[in-house]
Amino acid sequence: MNTLNRATPSAVADLKTGAKKAPGGIRPEDYRYLQDCVYRETGIVLDQDKHYLMDSRLGPIVRRAGFSTVADLCNLLRGVGVASSRDQHDKIKREVVNAMTTNETLFFRELAQYDALRHKIIPALMAERRGLRRLRFWSAAASTGQEAYSLAVLLADIRVEGWNVQITGTDINDAVLARARAGRYQQIEVNRGLPANYLVRYFSRQGPVWELKDEIKKMVNFELLDLGESLRTRGPYDIVCCRNVLIYFDIETKCKILSEI
Ligand SMILES: C[S@@+](CC[C@H](N)C(=O)[O-])C[C@H]1O[C@@H](n2cnc3c(N)ncnc32)[C@H](O)[C@@H]1O
Repeated sequence: MNTLNRATPSAVADLKTGAKKAPGGIRPEDYRYLQDCVYRETGIVLDQDKHYLMDSRLGPIVRRAGFSTVADLCNLLRGVGVASSRDQHDKIKREVVNAMTTNETLFFRELAQYDALRHKIIPALMAERRGLRRLRFWSAAASTGQEAYSLAVLLADIRVEGWNVQITGTDINDAVLARARAGRYQQIEVNRGLPANYLVRYFSRQGPVWELKDEIKKMVNFELLDLGESLRTRGPYDIVCCRNVLIYFDIETKCKILSEI
């Protein structure tokens, strides 16, 4: 097939006008539009040098939507030149926002912090709360759930029977939350950070997948939450893990979140 036949409106316009694209194939005006859109929706600041990242992450969305350029995706989001239903518009916006979040995580990331929790912080908390016998934890950028489940496994291992323990994991990305809720991990994911004795004790194996046992899953619930929303009515929590997320925000957003959690 003639490639021009498959070229979407903006690709044709670019060919005609010879419009310049920034490195990574995204036009400067589209890059600025996406920077603003991602900032508005998530607070994430994308610097000027993230063209390659944006191009590689948005590529699959462009192809799934049947477009050939990021420009067409932007036009759909702007509601200019590309027809779409409200549902399709919202779905694609959600996919773009999800794609622009970085979800790197692993079990027991920063082992020293879990050692401190196990040997100092949680025993001290339990002594303080022995009347109420209730503990509340919040994993505030939970991604695919490894942080929240690391806490759950640690607490199960400390033996908190008779205690009311609740761990809440929140994230802005609904796709990673769906994975977190399933509590199912590939071999390569459990190989990263999870001590072998915890794997054997708290997971069951189904072929190449390891699934957390119900006793662990029921300690954790996951919710969609933008940390940019007001957080003042949440909690109270005994411990909040807010790790590897503030790095993506500007100083105003960092201060707002830290003053509210
Ligand atoms: C790098 S992961 C950190 C995961 C985990 N806390 C850890 O340290 O291993 C960052 C997570 O923050 C989430 N995130 C980014 N912006 C957010 C926002 N405005 N509100 C809530 N979560 C956000 C992303 O979706 C991503 O899953």
